[in-house]
Amino acid sequence: MPATSLDTIVSLCKRRGFVFPSSSVYGGLGSTWDYGPLGVELKNNVKRAWWRSVVHERDDMEGLDAAILMNRLVWKYSGHEATFSDPMTDCRACKTRPRADHVFAAQKGRDPKGLAEINAAIEAKEIACPKCGSKDLTPARPFNLMFRTSVGPVDSGDDSGLVYMRPETAQGIYVNFGNVLDTMRRKLPFGIAQIGKAFRNEITPGNFTFRTREFEQMEIEYFVRPGEDEAAHEAWITERTNWYLKLGMRPENLRVREQEKHELAHYAKRCVDLEYRFPMGWSELEGIANRTDYDLKAHSRSPENPDAVGELKYFDQEQKKHLVPYVIEPSAGADRATLAFLCDAYEDALVKEPPAEETAKLRDLVESFAKSVGRREGMAAEVKQRLVSTAETIAAGLPGTLPQLIGLMEDSEAATIEVMKKVRGVGEKIAEEHTRTVLHLHPRLAPLTVAVFPLKRNDPRLVEMARGLKRDLQRSGVRTVYDDTGAIGKLYRRQDEIGTPWCITVDFQSLEDQTVTVRDRDTMQQERLKAPELAATFAARLT
Ligand code: GAP
Repeated sequence: MPATSLDTIVSLCKRRGFVFPSSSVYGGLGSTWDYGPLGVELKNNVKRAWWRSVVHERDDMEGLDAAILMNRLVWKYSGHEATFSDPMTDCRACKTRPRADHVFAAQKGRDPKGLAEINAAIEAKEIACPKCGSKDLTPARPFNLMFRTSVGPVDSGDDSGLVYMRPETAQGIYVNFGNVLDTMRRKLPFGIAQIGKAFRNEITPGNFTFRTREFEQMEIEYFVRPGEDEAAHEAWITERTNWYLKLGMRPENLRVREQEKHELAHYAKRCVDLEYRFPMGWSELEGIANRTDYDLKAHSRSPENPDAVGELKYFDQEQKKHLVPYVIEPSAGADRATLAFLCDAYEDALVKEPPAEETAKLRDLVESFAKSVGRREGMAAEVKQRLVSTAETIAAGLPGTLPQLIGLMEDSEAATIEVMKKVRGVGEKIAEEHTRTVLHLHPRLAPLTVAVFPLKRNDPRLVEMARGLKRDLQRSGVRTVYDDTGAIGKLYRRQDEIGTPWCITVDFQSLEDQTVTVRDRDTMQQERLKAPELAATFAARLT
């Protein structure tokens, strides 16, 4: 069963060292996360796979790594200083500050056309605070999402040293368009790819690493002749969709959504979102926009931009004239892609049936949990309904639904019901013995590729051979770890849970004929392979 709630993923991530709450020794900092030892490997693999696909495997792309801090004028002429903001309103009754466009959309059933329409609705008392229902709302004001900081040894108190933490990596590409064009002697069409941190003072961050204030983007700006933009846009939509699918994402969890006219950013002619079915619903994974010539023109010297030193344009040898290229922008989030791959790969599976009396005891407890939720006061009706129906389904289907019980035992809302302690007391042990959690990550994404175990850790010959294998595989570029801290079955479980595709066991036969068992994570089948051929075998499986 795949993960049905983000809580399950969050719990796995904390338990197994993928992602930790940031600054936790000081109580944390809301919605900021640190990637742990396995998380950094996974995210690096996602970024590496992206770079390989959009830079190394193509002939029309270059890479770039621009600075995070840029001249403030970049953000003036890109339009971010004036427009990169969310409209916020203050509720005078309960002192909360909701996003006015979201309130308008939720209560009027459509998006507002602009700030003026939102404020007219506030003044006419047509919309109310989503928290307390009061219609005493202040006029909505734009709240800029860019983080400000200053350069220089002293803060002069005015804005003379003001710089922004970039809210997207794209602008670093536009302002380097001329540099890349000249130094790499490129002809249209060609693109520039960049991976890097971006910062936004999001009003409503949340859903784990889905929306945070500091995140990483993987962006492409693809420059084409005007008129060739629509075909290039289509090609990138296909290319980027296939990238997720080739890396194992289930097709039923990925969809292409055309943005409606009123959703389009002011610079976009067309934009398509690739959406993933996260546990909290369909949400944007990547945006692929046709930004026309907006950005290159915005950073070119003109009556509107007297600060730019020159023009960002291209001399077309065929047409013997200068032109300003159009831009197709596939813009993905490294953290969001990592989260989507994790959610997609997750599975809790029943591997053997528990004894009937244990199942009966567990069923009674889950039924009394469902009754207890039903009686609980002060819990939101939809949460109650979700917990009751999940518990009833699980109770009716045990032991087949044991994997679903794992999700319920990790649900933070379920944990507030007293009986859950008893359910966990019995359920965790049964689940531990009869189910396994597996991350079916694509081998190229998995944090570790191979784990090597000696059949017996107190036999120096097995240990020496296993350690030697680990060293040889690692030297040949296959990410490998050695582990001897438990029985083989337990070690398999641990590796399944973090998505390691292959486990090698060195046994007594290995000492005689140099063969080892290689166990496949997904099928749990074992095969006997020759140790000296392992590096070539795994290298072939990773391509
Ligand atoms: N240059 C275009 C641009 O920045 P965007 O839709 O605002 O477009 C592109 O961002 C991608 O960056 C999103 O599809 C998402 O994957 C990621 N992203 C944006 N804001 C994010 C946030 N607050 N937290 C995590 N990822 C974010």
